[in-house]
Formats: sequence, C-alpha cells, structure tokens
Amino acid sequence: MKRALAIAHSNIALAKYWGKEDIANNTPAVPSLSMTLDAMQTTTEVSFSETLETDDVELDGEPAEGRRYDRVVKLLDRVRAEARLSSKAKVRSRNNFPTAAGLASSASGFAALALAARAAAGLSRDDERTSVLARLSSASAARSIFGGYVALDRGESAARRVADATHFPLELIVAVTQAGKKHTGSTEGMSHTRDTSPYYASWVEHAPKLARNIEQAVLAADLERLGPLVEQSALLMHASMWGAAPALIYFNPATLRVMEAVAQLRRAGTLAFYTMDAGPHVKVIAKPEDTAEVRRTLEEQEGVLRTIHCRLGQDASLRLETAE
Ligand code: DP6
Repeated sequence: MKRALAIAHSNIALAKYWGKEDIANNTPAVPSLSMTLDAMQTTTEVSFSETLETDDVELDGEPAEGRRYDRVVKLLDRVRAEARLSSKAKVRSRNNFPTAAGLASSASGFAALALAARAAAGLSRDDERTSVLARLSSASAARSIFGGYVALDRGESAARRVADATHFPLELIVAVTQAGKKHTGSTEGMSHTRDTSPYYASWVEHAPKLARNIEQAVLAADLERLGPLVEQSALLMHASMWGAAPALIYFNPATLRVMEAVAQLRRAGTLAFYTMDAGPHVKVIAKPEDTAEVRRTLEEQEGVLRTIHCRLGQDASLRLETAE
C-alpha cells in the first residue's frame, strides 16, 4: 500500500471562467486568471489498498455521497487507468475553512486530490498532468496546482504560472455574507446560462480580451489598471447569468452593500476592487498597506458575517509519501 498527503490552496479568479467548450473534457470556453490564496486550503490523504472493496471517501469527517462521491471516484478511475492499478482507495479530505459558508472548495479540493492520488498510485510528480487531471474534475482546480498568479487558457490545456507572489504582493479580503451553501452549483449554473441567456455569447466573445488585459496588468504589477478590469470580468459574467431564464442571481443585499462600500473607499482614495463568484460573498483585492482599513470597512457593513484575510498562496505540495 502506498499513501500520499497533499495540500492545495483555494484560488480566486481575477478573470473569470464561466462556460464550457466541451462538457465531457471539461474544457473552459473562456480563458481565466486567478490568484492562489494562502489562508484557504484543503489537505487530502489518499491510500490505495487491495483489501478495500469500494472507494472509501470522507470529506470534512463525513462519508461522501451521491454526486460528490461520484466526482471523486471519477478522478481516482483516471489515476488507476494511468498507473495500471486496480485497487480501491481510501480518501480523507479536510478544508481549513468552513465549507458550510458556501466558499469555493472544489478548486483546492480537486487540486489536493489529484496531487495526492497520483503520488499514492506511484506516478511521478508532473504538475502539468496533475493540473489537467484536476481540470477534468473542476476547471478552477487546475489553477490551484500553482501558487501566485495562474492562468488557464481556453480548451484542452493545463494551467500555467503567470507570476509568483513576490512579483505583485496583492492581498484579498473575503466578506462572507451568507451562512448556507449556494443555491446552484457552478457546473449546473454554466449550462443553464449557456442554454438560456442571450448574453452568454457576448460574454464568451468579450472574455478573452479582458483576460489578456488582466494578465498584462498583473505582469505590470499595476493595481490601478488591474482593478477596473477585474470588476468588469466579474460583472460581465454575472450579467450573463442575470440574462438567463429563469435568472441566476447569486447576490444578496449585503453583496451590493459591500460593492458600494468598496466604491466609496476608492472615492476616498484607497485602491480596492471587488469580485464575486457563483455565490453572494465579496472578495476585495488591495495592497498590503491598505488591507487593515479595507477589512474594517467591510466588517462595518450590515450583513457581513465575518471576513477572511488572504495573502498569495504557494504551489500545491506533497507532505507525505510512504510505500508500505
Ligand atoms: C465563478 O471550476 O467550480 O468560480 O469546472 O464545472 O467544476 P466546474 O466549475 P468551477 O467554476 C468556477 C467558476 C467561478 C469562476 C472561476 O473560478 O474562474
């Protein structure tokens, strides 16, 4: 039996991925670019054993069931096929952030699982293959294999490193605005948007140029240029969802209050910019010297339950590999 333990960090897209080109291969219809976050991580241990009859999967201390279980098994099946292995696996995975708060966990979760499962199956470390394996389960997970700023291009690719943390040390504050899980998962939300929103085609048309400009602004380490593009990417993505039938609206009143508070901070001279994913939480980027003020302002807003302060995170890593 071989065992491996991996740690991967969550990430937040500055240029959003929303929509699939090929559903079977889970290839994105638009390029995206994210920053990896140090404060939100998943730790996953995988061991393959001939004595197991089925894959045994626990996520945050609970046995995985239904679609969550099936998604894990699908990834394990791909690893077994590559390693020519038939044994079943024991998987134990934990997030250090509350999954119940509806914060994205599939990115760090599938990145850690892909890295641990490949190592436990005896496959040699290959970040590009690990990123593709993670992408097949959840496209945003492809980006969590790498630290710093990471891009995922359109189509069949692995994620690629754009710049490391020291190049542009931005920080991010998450304003948590809801306790429960989100109402519609990303995969389902994307197909609903594609199938029913007249704005979906326009989103897919405009997203590549935005992603290119966002990458250039990151490379130039220029927050003044980056911020408005980040907000536009998030709002164009949400506009495509608002145009769906029925509309897919993830915001709540606190989401809008926080967006307004960020705009107000800017009017008062503090460079801070927001982005929202498929959920009501608001993530705000700012320079390190401004994050204390940004955090205070966000915590004052009605409906903000808590904040999480993140710096740029590192590459996903293997912490333990044993052959028994
Ligand atoms: C809004 O990666 O969760 O967070 O590939 O279907 O698993 P699947 O989708 P997922 O989508 C993330 C969407 C997003 C934007 C982003 O992270 O780029």
